Amino acid sequence: MTFQRVSERMWEIAGAVSVRTKILGIVLGLVILLGAGVTMQARYALTRTMTAQMEEQSISVSRDFAARSTDPILLNDLLGVHDLLKETIANNPNIRYAFIVDNHGQVIAHTFEGGFPLDLIPLNTVQSGEHHHTSLIQTDEGLVWDTAVPILDGKVGTARIGLSDASIRTAVSTLTAQLILTTLLVSIAGILVAVSLTWILTRPIISLAQATQAVAKGDFSPRVLRWANDEIGDLAEAFNSMTEELARTDELRKEREVLRRQLLEKVITTQEDERRRIARELHDSTSQNLTSLIVGLRVMETNCAQCASISKATDLRDVASKTLDEVHDLSMRLRPRVLDDLGLSAALERLVSEWQTRYKIPVDVAIQLGERLPGEVETAIYRIVQETLTNIARHAHAKSASILVERHGDMVRAIVEDDGIGFDINANHGERHLGLLGMRERAEFLHGALTIESSHENGTSVFIEIPLHNEQMEANR
Ligand SMILES: Nc1ncnc2c1ncn2[C@@H]1O[C@H](COP(=O)(O)OP(=O)(O)OP(=O)(O)O)[C@@H](O)[C@H]1O
Ligand SMILES: [Mg+2]
Repeated sequence: MTFQRVSERMWEIAGAVSVRTKILGIVLGLVILLGAGVTMQARYALTRTMTAQMEEQSISVSRDFAARSTDPILLNDLLGVHDLLKETIANNPNIRYAFIVDNHGQVIAHTFEGGFPLDLIPLNTVQSGEHHHTSLIQTDEGLVWDTAVPILDGKVGTARIGLSDASIRTAVSTLTAQLILTTLLVSIAGILVAVSLTWILTRPIISLAQATQAVAKGDFSPRVLRWANDEIGDLAEAFNSMTEELARTDELRKEREVLRRQLLEKVITTQEDERRRIARELHDSTSQNLTSLIVGLRVMETNCAQCASISKATDLRDVASKTLDEVHDLSMRLRPRVLDDLGLSAALERLVSEWQTRYKIPVDVAIQLGERLPGEVETAIYRIVQETLTNIARHAHAKSASILVERHGDMVRAIVEDDGIGFDINANHGERHLGLLGMRERAEFLHGALTIESSHENGTSVFIEIPLHNEQMEANR
C-alpha cells in the first residue's frame, strides 16, 4: 500500500515536469548512481588490497628488525639496539612504534617518546613454535597491525612493530575525492549533452504542441516543419495533412453556415411577409365582405319584419359576427398591424392584454424602449415573447408571469418569467417541438443570444439580448 502510494507520488512528480527535465533527470541520476557505485567498489577493493599488503609488510619489517636486533642484544649493546630502532622507524613512515621485550617480559628498548604504554604488551603475544603473530589493535589514531617476532626462537626476547593504517586511509580518501570529482565533471558534461540532446529531441515536439494548441483554438493555419526523417517527422507530416483537411472542412462549414443563415433569413422574411399579406387580405377583403354580409342581414331583418325567415337572418348575422371576430383575431395573431404601425411597445401591450384576458393569468409588464427599433429586431422580440407566452399558457401551469423589455444603449434586453412548474432545459424535446428552437434561431440570426433558466421551484425565465447594430442589419439597409 505504502509502496503503491510512493510510486503514485513519483509518477505524479514525473508527470508534472517537462520532457526536457525528465531526460536531464535520467542522465544526472544515471551518472550519479554510476559514480557512487564505482566509488564504493573502488574504495572496497583498494582497502582490501592495501590491508593485505600492510599485513605482509608488517611481518617482513618485523622479521627483518628481529633478525638485525639479535647481535646487539646478545652483545648487550643497548646503543646499537636504539640505533637500530631509529633506523627502522626512519626507513618506514608507516611504522607507528617498535620495541623489544626480553624473555622476562621487560622492555629493553622502545620508540615511544612520552613513556612506554605498559598495556600494549599483553595485546599481542607470540606462542612458542610460531614464527610471528600479528594482532589488529584499535588506537586513538586508527588501526595498528602489531606483529610480534621471537628473537633467536624466543630465547633472547621478542621484537614488536606496529604499522599504522594511516596510509590506507589517506589513499582511500584521495581516491574517493578523485572519483567524486570525476563524477562531478562527468555530471556537468552529462548535463550539457542532455541539454543539447533534449533540445534536438523536443524542438519538433514543442512546435507540434504549439501548433496543436492553435488548432484547438480554431486556427488551422500553422504548419509544422519536418525536422528529421524519424517518427516525429512522420508525425509532423501527418499533423500537417490533418490541419489542411481541417482547414478545408472548416471553410466548407463556414460556407454552409453562410448559406444556412441566408436561407433562414429568407424563410423568416418570407414568413413574415406572407403573414403580413394574409393578415392584410383578411382585414381588407374577408373582414370587409363579412361586414357587408352583416350589414346586409341587418337590413334584411329591418325590411322584412314579417318574413318567416327573420330568425334565420338573425342567426346568420350572429354567425357572421362571430366569424368576423375570429378573422380579426386570426389576422391579429398572424401579424398585428399595430406592430408595423405603432411599434413593439404597443404591439406587446396589446398581445399581453389579449393573452391575459384569454388565459386569466396576470402579467406584470414593464416596457422601456423609447424610439422605434429596427423592424427585424421588433419582429424578432415580438415573436419570441409571443412564443414564450404561448409556452407559459400551454406548459407552465403558472399563476403569474412578468415581462420586461428595455433598451440599454445599443442592446435590447427582454426577460419573460413565469412561476410555473419549470422543465429540464437540457432534455431533447424532439422534432415536434420547434418553439424554443425557433426563438433561439431568431435571436442568433440577429447576433443576439437567448438563455433559459428553469427549475421546478422557481419556474422559467427566458432572457433575450439582441444588439441594435450588427453587420446583418447594416447589410439589410
Ligand atoms: N414556460 C415553460 N414552462 C414549462 N415547460 C416549458 C415552458 N416552455 C417550454 N416548456 C417545455 O419545453 C418543451 C419545448 O417547448 P417548445 O416551445 O420548443 O415546444 P412545444 O411548445 O411543445 O411545441 P411548439 O413547437 O408548438 O412550440 C415543451 O414541450 C415543454 O415541455
Ligand atoms: Mg412552444
